[in-house]
Amino acid sequence: MTTYIVLLGPPGAGKGTQAEVISDSLKLAHISSGDIFRENLKNETELGKLAQGYMNRGELVPDDVTIAMIRERLTRPDCANGAVLDGFPRTPAQATALEGMLKELDGTVRSVPYINVPSEVLVARLSGRWTCQQGHVYHVVFNPPQVTGKCDVDGLELYQREDDQPATVERRIRVYLEQTSPLIEYYRERGLLREVDGTQAIDQVTADLLAAIQKG
Ligand code: AP5
Ligand code: MG
Repeated sequence: MTTYIVLLGPPGAGKGTQAEVISDSLKLAHISSGDIFRENLKNETELGKLAQGYMNRGELVPDDVTIAMIRERLTRPDCANGAVLDGFPRTPAQATALEGMLKELDGTVRSVPYINVPSEVLVARLSGRWTCQQGHVYHVVFNPPQVTGKCDVDGLELYQREDDQPATVERRIRVYLEQTSPLIEYYRERGLLREVDGTQAIDQVTADLLAAIQKG
């Protein structure tokens, strides 16, 4: 049976940073809904044009569009063993849709690690974040690249995300609290939630996440 891990946590919690390492370590695909939207934005696809306004305002892209996008992504060959989901689901409707999709794929959500980081820490993380077009993530202080402005993995130029401006970050955190945080209870009730202290150093968070996932 295929295995799916859902990484929960507010904007800036470290979902992208950790999903990269965990998916490598468990040999699962890494699916970041935000990265897929940004890729579409860059390529000026219809999906990208539709998502742009929502993303720039720090709001969620509508459920039907997001669900269809993830449904398609989950059927690709690299998801044969399963996937680490980073940024999806983000609403109760998306969580219900995911259950249905995984049933069709004869899979199940095995574990839902929740990277807990208080709001006041998130702003500092996002204002110092630099990222490459492939979604590799750095921080000027907490995780600097070896060469300033260049990605360690692929040498691509690093840029700051449009939605990391303070006013948009505030909006994203509010949207998370209103629309996404109910999923904490949703998965707790199903016995799948594993809370991890996301304020620790990056390597320690990785170790705690892997331990939490292995415990099942
Ligand atoms: P998305 O790209 O998913 O953004 P997000 O959820 O706001 O999360 P981030 O990517 O900002 O943070 P992260 O948790 O990945 O943290 P990171 O590892 O980068 O979504 C963007 C937009 O797309 C949404 O606003 C919405 O419009 C749309 N969208 C996406 N999915 C959607 C969905 N399902 N439904 C509807 N709309 C959707 O780390 C952050 C920084 O902290 C980095 O600089 C990193 O180096 C640093 N850091 C990480 N861990 C640590 C640590 N332990 N200590 C110190 N620094 C750390
Ligand atoms: Mg991310």
